[in-house]
Amino acid sequence: MTVTAQTRDLATTARRLTSGGRGILAADESIATMSTRLEGEGVVASETTRRDYRQLLLTAPGLARTVSGVIWCDETFGQQLTDARTFPAAAAELGVLAGIKVDTGTVPLPGTAGALVTEGLDGLGERLGSYAARGAAFAKWRAVFDVSTISPYSARVNAQALARYAALCQLHGIVPVVEPEVLAAGAHDLVDCAVATRMALDALFDELQQADVDLTGIVLKPNFVTPGLGCQDVSARTVATVTHDVLRDCVPATVPGIAFLSGGHPTDDACAFLRALNAIDTAPWAMTFSFGRALVNDALATWAGQPANVTRAQQALIANCERAAAATA
Ligand code: 13P
Repeated sequence: MTVTAQTRDLATTARRLTSGGRGILAADESIATMSTRLEGEGVVASETTRRDYRQLLLTAPGLARTVSGVIWCDETFGQQLTDARTFPAAAAELGVLAGIKVDTGTVPLPGTAGALVTEGLDGLGERLGSYAARGAAFAKWRAVFDVSTISPYSARVNAQALARYAALCQLHGIVPVVEPEVLAAGAHDLVDCAVATRMALDALFDELQQADVDLTGIVLKPNFVTPGLGCQDVSARTVATVTHDVLRDCVPATVPGIAFLSGGHPTDDACAFLRALNAIDTAPWAMTFSFGRALVNDALATWAGQPANVTRAQQALIANCERAAAATA
């Protein structure tokens, strides 16, 4: 890809998202997932309560000290805070970049024994144009793999979709966050996860290259390489070493930043993995967080839909963001 003012801007945005001791807050749960999580805390799920919860997160005092960008789903991106500002406009005032999840979720991949493929390419160019005009600096697309069902075919099909998404984002001046998630849930061991993660990443970077995606203008959002949740007790140092080995072999050094998902790991563990990874100082990329649950679970439980709990919920969010940001040093 030739270097133009646009590609330079993409690279600047990608670096801004992943460096400087800050990371990304993933608050882009779909309407269905967010509603389930709200109901789990005894909150009646509605457009308003989903907005109130995302407003609580965005307006937590001091958020911009540790958070470079926030990802929302389409519903939140188009909503207004109670003071009538849109979410992207409120983020811009804080110095936080606005992100939008643009995939439409997963469906079973025919011809496989249980693998999934992520959809959302139809009309994507038009949607990206609209999001860019409304202040989106970056986007996210998540491919989902299970260690027990990933195959070269499912890795390839999902990688092709990620590459088409990434190329379209860059055409619209939006930095693509490229997320091939190997799920932590399962009974697999560390080596199985490493094999699956390599398969997903190898296919991804092959397809990104074929689609002429400018690697200096993307953010990679991978999983930590771990055994299945609760399966095998390994140290954070071991997770970091294996994760680093996989990334070093699969991710070109031109990628400016890697922002990990938390994957259902407890906050302490996710932060310990990130801290141990950053202690390996030979990595060519910035490594930070793009956590969802590890940042927000405490805030949601503390809030429980009660206005009187907003301040304490915001403090819980900020405490987790500070722990994650401290792990980027
Ligand atoms: P978790 O950190 O909760 O895994 O979510 C991150 C994310 O955005 C998954 O797509």
